[in-house]
Amino acid sequence: KDERESLMIVSSYAQKYFTRYLWEEEEGKAVGLSYFHERAIRDDIIKMFDLGYCPDGKSKFTDAAVKDGYKIEFLDKTGLSIVRDDWQRDRFAGRVIFPIHNLAGRVIAFGGRILKDDPKAAKYVNSPESEIYHKSQVLYGIFQAKREITRVDKCYLVEGYTDVLAFYQAGIENVVASSGTALTSEQIRLIKRFTPNITIIYDGDEAGIKASLRGIDLVLEEGMNVKVLLLPGGEDPDSFSKKKSSTELEEFIKTNETDFIRFKTQLLLKETENDPVAKARLITDVIRSVAVIPDTITRSVYIKECSRLLNVEEEVLYTEVRKIKRKNSDDLRKQVIREKPEKVVKQPVIEEKRDEDILIEEKELLKFLLKYCRFPLFEIEEVPNHPKVVTAGEFIIGEIENDDLVKENSLFAAYLNEVKEKMDDVDTDLFKYFINHPDVKINQLTSDLLSEKHIESKRWHRAGAYAEREEDILDMLIPRIVSEYKLRKVRDLISDLNIKIGQTDDFNKMLEIMAIIQNLKKVEKILSDKLGNRTIN
Ligand code: CTP
Ligand code: MN
Repeated sequence: KDERESLMIVSSYAQKYFTRYLWEEEEGKAVGLSYFHERAIRDDIIKMFDLGYCPDGKSKFTDAAVKDGYKIEFLDKTGLSIVRDDWQRDRFAGRVIFPIHNLAGRVIAFGGRILKDDPKAAKYVNSPESEIYHKSQVLYGIFQAKREITRVDKCYLVEGYTDVLAFYQAGIENVVASSGTALTSEQIRLIKRFTPNITIIYDGDEAGIKASLRGIDLVLEEGMNVKVLLLPGGEDPDSFSKKKSSTELEEFIKTNETDFIRFKTQLLLKETENDPVAKARLITDVIRSVAVIPDTITRSVYIKECSRLLNVEEEVLYTEVRKIKRKNSDDLRKQVIREKPEKVVKQPVIEEKRDEDILIEEKELLKFLLKYCRFPLFEIEEVPNHPKVVTAGEFIIGEIENDDLVKENSLFAAYLNEVKEKMDDVDTDLFKYFINHPDVKINQLTSDLLSEKHIESKRWHRAGAYAEREEDILDMLIPRIVSEYKLRKVRDLISDLNIKIGQTDDFNKMLEIMAIIQNLKKVEKILSDKLGNRTIN
């Protein structure tokens, strides 16, 4: 009767099947269990995390599940099986299995690691999003870690499945992983239910440092305390912990984890040396992080520390913080005006209608469209030899065209149309074409898109941390950008309708508009849920 429950039940069945296969079947023991043993994962840890093995072959698991009475519909919806009209197969065949538990300990998804190193195959295959699995809201290991997080009032955040296992095995049980996705604020809030203290542990290479910096502000925004621990370059928590004894590991963490402000200043001080301009930029950078801290007292503590480390008067730093906060609240005010125009309808600022005023969301969409429209985004058919590739351009344009709710800005629409025309003509360099476009508005907009700084920085603040390269996460990023665009349009639409209500005296007309608004609010909710409520501006 309850679809969510059905999905959980089939996931639980699958976990038990995979676990049994690992421990009891010849193939499981010879291939799966020996893989874990080779990686020096102890049996008690394998059991604690319900690890398993999915037999190789086309559909051994799926066949067993169907035979045991589980509906193919739910095997499909959990992604355990890949189901087509005329065939079905196991998603995780021949992989070792890392079940993902929710807070209550129920299995909601799986990660499957390939055993051999094959540069062509994905190292991990993960369950797709489903009604019970929302990637951005889940942390691997949270169920096993939550007691210890509460007990020591602190949580370690690592990147991968094996990092969690290795720390746990080394006796550090308060550890969770974001598992391949960029850290989200929902994940941080999940930790916040147990402790306000997070230490982010990353590889000390450039990517790791970048990811740490992004993580920091996200954690600070949630009003939590954040420390950073960089491991020696090239090490992840898994490899590193295996070179140390438990005591050495604890000792290393204790002496090397750094308060975010010291982390940031030390990192940046190295680059600035004696360059006063660079130093000024450094100060702004650090202060920007301080400014997002919601609590005044915490903020002042950090300002003190910052003043000491950077050798700058506290008063100067306070002035900087005020400047940034004023700017932030300015932005906020503008947003409020957009969302609640009924309150400010008398003010001239919103009377002047912005016709060709193209939205940041529209610019971002166009930028991605120009950059990636010929990039393959999804494969929608998995029949061997017949994969159908959807390009980023087809996806974006399809999404916008199929949505009769959203009315495009005319310039944006014209632009979109031309991209659509030129998209399949691979001989046209789109950037060149649009930058030389005879229509001044279009070529100006294009150069605007090329000097993409402000667009980029918007996304940075908004969506937070992406450790990965843009091109590697387009399948996640582009649907997000489309949703953000739609959300913005829906909100603007609601605003406009609110103004209309204020302008009419006809009661029936009002009711009519109100009904429309109510429906739009539903759409707004769906979109903003989809975006994990990290909304914009
Ligand atoms: N990941 C993923 N898909 C991939 C690669 C990585 O989902 N193709 C996720 C997994 O959750 C993985 C995490 O990103 O645990 C970190 O990736 P990586 O460091 O490459 O893997 P490890 O966890 O270190 O795995 P291993 O030690 O087995 O190589
Ligand atoms: Mn690893």
